[in-house]
Amino acid sequence: MSVLKILKYPDPRLNEESLDVEEFGEDLKALAADMAETMISAPGVGLAAPQGGKLLRLIVVDRSDLEDEDREPEPMVLVNPEIVRAEGSQIFKEGCLSVDDFQSEVTRYMEIEVEAQDLDGNLFTVEAEGRMAVILQHEIDHLDGVLFLEHVSPLKRSMYTTSLLKRRNKDAKS
Ligand code: NI
Repeated sequence: MSVLKILKYPDPRLNEESLDVEEFGEDLKALAADMAETMISAPGVGLAAPQGGKLLRLIVVDRSDLEDEDREPEPMVLVNPEIVRAEGSQIFKEGCLSVDDFQSEVTRYMEIEVEAQDLDGNLFTVEAEGRMAVILQHEIDHLDGVLFLEHVSPLKRSMYTTSLLKRRNKDAKS
């Protein structure tokens, strides 16, 4: 297993649409294991394959109890995940391993049902609400090339991108 290099905003690959996974072999298992390791070492609670530069519909989320300080991460892999039911709404403060130094409140569905395949191609369903529903929606967005920044108000987003540019120019000079 190895830790993948995480692409950072504004890398244009983060805006691309990922392809369906069609081959369920050793390569897919190895990629999923690398993604789990990358998520845990970051540390983060979710990671989508395009963040590791692989444009495939594959995500990993941590399904352990995130409120528990002594928790051990429990990575869950979802291949070709699709939201098949969504209800309600909630506002949650989000961040992203591909977006440095920025967090913002985002409105998402409160409860969702996701259909996905496991690493052998078997279909399964996950029902989630609250924070886990947020994480799943955030990661599935990545597969469509959508960052959480696109759910943030244009003013907040432009303040962030301006400060990012300033920092970069400073780094380039020093
Ligand atoms: Ni993200």
